Amino acid sequence: MTAAGSPTTPAPRRVRVALLGCGNVGAALVGLIRARHDALVIQSGAELELAGIAVADLSRPRPPHVPVDLLTADAAALVADPSVDVVVELMGGLEPAGQLVRAALDAGKPVVTANKALLASSQGTELRALAHRRGVDLLYEAAVAGAIPLVRALRESLTGERIDRVLGIVNGTTNFILTRMAEGGAGYAEALAEAQSLGLAEADPTADVAGHDAAAKAAILAGVAFGYDVAASDVACEGITGIDAALVAFADRLGHAVKLLAVVERVSAAGGPASPADAGELSVRVHPALVPRAHPLASVNGAFNAVFVVGEAAGELMLYGQGAGGLPTASAVLGDVIDATRNLLAGTTAPTPERTPARLHPASDLTSACCVSVEVDDRPGVLASVAAVFGDHGVSIKAMEQHDGPDRGQARLVFLTHHARMGDVSGTLAELARMDAVEQVGPAVPVMEGGA
Ligand SMILES: NC(=O)c1ccc[n+]([C@@H]2O[C@H](COP(=O)([O-])OP(=O)(O)OC[C@H]3O[C@@H](n4cnc5c(N)ncnc54)[C@H](OP(=O)(O)O)[C@@H]3O)[C@@H](O)[C@H]2O)c1
Repeated sequence: MTAAGSPTTPAPRRVRVALLGCGNVGAALVGLIRARHDALVIQSGAELELAGIAVADLSRPRPPHVPVDLLTADAAALVADPSVDVVVELMGGLEPAGQLVRAALDAGKPVVTANKALLASSQGTELRALAHRRGVDLLYEAAVAGAIPLVRALRESLTGERIDRVLGIVNGTTNFILTRMAEGGAGYAEALAEAQSLGLAEADPTADVAGHDAAAKAAILAGVAFGYDVAASDVACEGITGIDAALVAFADRLGHAVKLLAVVERVSAAGGPASPADAGELSVRVHPALVPRAHPLASVNGAFNAVFVVGEAAGELMLYGQGAGGLPTASAVLGDVIDATRNLLAGTTAPTPERTPARLHPASDLTSACCVSVEVDDRPGVLASVAAVFGDHGVSIKAMEQHDGPDRGQARLVFLTHHARMGDVSGTLAELARMDAVEQVGPAVPVMEGGA
């Protein structure tokens, strides 16, 4: 009963949330929604209620806070349930996640997802267009850098900015491995094994160490920061599997840290910086790089992520934090769920600026100084013949160090080149790999210029 004269407060509207997936992130999200119930009513303007939780295996044990009565193996029926208002996709993978997201958007239900693989696949453009046509949100703050509020910052706070360059350490597994190699002098295999033992790397680490995860994130960043439609398959990608301890130590002596970078930048047709009057071409790539110690990205260590943004008027910005993990990622997902709920109640959507196809600049046309590690037979004449291959491709050597190789009779040569066309450096490495005296050739690792 209401006291005479006191205003009645209408009960908040109930917004029913379908959760697809209850793994690392999904289970953490369930915990946050339950623990923050009252605060979420204030934040979102609605009572968020879990309508159901789709999983693959109903018999799998769940954390105690997960309400087992809400579990279902029929994700499609959950999405189609007319009482569901918002769909949160945390299953991962392309299918059935893609079909389910499409079905939800088609039914006019906002979708929140952390699925970088889906968004950076050929389906990403189609799903964004579908959300636009249906006038509903498709939000994905957690897909690029976990808890780091990056997508919203680029899409909203920096919406008036011309972004010229985004450099990201967006994969915690590889950053942990490279940090261990630098700080502990560990070899690649040893550092990877340590990451696996700490749960920071999968049993099959390929998606992380080959750079595919970072490539999907670079593609998403190209869209959010530059307004271009780019798929992961468009991203020139080199991982860290060929990085050895000698190269990391050499970089350290030069005053650099080796980092796996996702790079999205405007360049002129000739490969230099694009002029302010010119949209330029877009270079989208993932590769290990020598980052000068004075640059803020060089001190991003362990499993942390950071994204460094250079805007024409805003200058340099860096966003830093936990790029993965169930709870940090669920925090970003929850932010999107609140946004989607507010927008739903207000009959609006988050801004979705139009995207255009990108004019991509070939990575082979860029120029840079590079570091290269080559394992060779340790016998007279080999060094001279290896050096000659660099010269034949027009790549000039600035410095070289020789170390003992992994086996007797082998040597490891680490080269620093002068500025060269990346295509010519790749040609050099391909020819070196064909030489009898060469056992192994590492990747070309560009040297980033400037303190920031
Ligand atoms: N983990 C992170 O740190 C992180 C960070 C950023 C983004 N993300 C993204 O977040 C998403 C979820 O990641 P996660 O680490 O939570 O994955 P996860 O632990 O592997 O959980 C996946 C969940 O999806 C369910 N599932 C899989 N296939 C299904 C199907 N066909 N039908 C119904 N349910 C299905 C699984 O069910 P069962 O439990 O029954 O197997 C599981 O509950 C992914 O897109 C990932 O890329 C993750």
